[in-house]
Amino acid sequence: MNKSVAIRGGRIIDPANGKDMVGDLLIREGVVASVGQIGAEGGATTIEAKGLIVSPGMVDVHCHLREPGFEHKETIATGTLAAARGGFTTICVMPNTVPPVDNASLVQFVLAKGAREGVVRVLPIGCLSRGRAGREIADLAELAEAGAVGFSDDGSPVDDTALMRRALEYSRGLADGEFPIIDHCEDRGLSTGGTMHEGWVSARLGLRGTPAAAEAIHVARDVFLAELTGARLHLAHLSTASSIELLMRAKERGLPISAEVTPHHITLDHEIILGELGDMSGSLAYDARAKVNPPLRTPKDVEACRVALAEGMIDCIATDHAPHAIEDKLCEFETAAYGISGLETALALSLTLVHDGVITLPTLIERMTSGPVRVLALDRGISGLGTLGVGAPGDVTVFDPYAPWVVQAEKFASKGKNTPVAGRTLRGRVIATIFGGTVVYKE
Ligand code: DOR
Repeated sequence: MNKSVAIRGGRIIDPANGKDMVGDLLIREGVVASVGQIGAEGGATTIEAKGLIVSPGMVDVHCHLREPGFEHKETIATGTLAAARGGFTTICVMPNTVPPVDNASLVQFVLAKGAREGVVRVLPIGCLSRGRAGREIADLAELAEAGAVGFSDDGSPVDDTALMRRALEYSRGLADGEFPIIDHCEDRGLSTGGTMHEGWVSARLGLRGTPAAAEAIHVARDVFLAELTGARLHLAHLSTASSIELLMRAKERGLPISAEVTPHHITLDHEIILGELGDMSGSLAYDARAKVNPPLRTPKDVEACRVALAEGMIDCIATDHAPHAIEDKLCEFETAAYGISGLETALALSLTLVHDGVITLPTLIERMTSGPVRVLALDRGISGLGTLGVGAPGDVTVFDPYAPWVVQAEKFASKGKNTPVAGRTLRGRVIATIFGGTVVYKE
């Protein structure tokens, strides 16, 4: 049995329970035992949290850990260490591995590896299509039975509209329709060949772009399919103002649709791809670390994503942590891999919105704890997940929302050092991460 953990004197923010108070929090036998004033707790590990925020452990519904198949980029062990450093205690991992997670034994492999080698909770997302090939539906019931928490071919969109319809219909029959189909929205007829957002930066760099419409067209199709089937749909990493407008209209009509946004899409825009030579003084330059799919968009899109997150139109933040090897990025922009290693900068980047007065701290915490739990109904199996109610899992993040630090990618726990914010000073540092009553990270 693990030791008790007493977190003393912090500002406890538990949005799901409407709690925002200064006090103590005690974790005993892996679960939250009391919140408020606690007395002496013999033998407990004590964390002094005066001046710090004490929140439910952060939950990420979208990351890539690369195991099996690409262990040189990330493993379940290193990915969960990165998660713990970033303040995450639950991460849902995408199935675009090799082989892709499209059957029960692979779901069980990820669960078993997570439990054995991971330091935080690892929940697998199963493939939507067999082999992630986008042709036939995967056996969603088998995947769900084995422990998958959702279904997605993320990394690729579901191009085939009839397949998407079938997956939505099929998912309705599972767990009272609570299993969401998660789609990566991209009309490949429009996007293929593009490697960044289509706009003035792509024109200046002479790179082929992907228009914002490639995302919105796919969102529109999925909205119609959600309406046709009545199934739960979750839209991954939205990045454009036009997608958000469609989402807003769909939600107004009461459709069961949720959406996420990444820390990079709410803080960075396409100009960062110009790299060091932002003024384009002379030579061509580009920063392939900022190559990501969907691409970083315009400041107007960034603003729309920020406002939608603050207002709850977008339900949660998800990292889309996409670690890659150095050689995957140290090459021509066109051949570089898509993705940003994001678990260790997610909280600090997202806190920018609090510092800029776009969102309150409790609302931001909601979007990173109970918000993500709600969209994937993760508390179906784990009661109280994403909250600090008595009896909830002893998953807690202690952080200083103002403390500055310099992003040193080479020191990431993740094998993926690919971040366009390397060298930047961010504000917001994780001080301790507690998972199931065990301190899994301490500064
Ligand atoms: O940038 C991305 N990287 N977007 C995706 O959809 C997939 C991800 C990856 O797996 O590298």
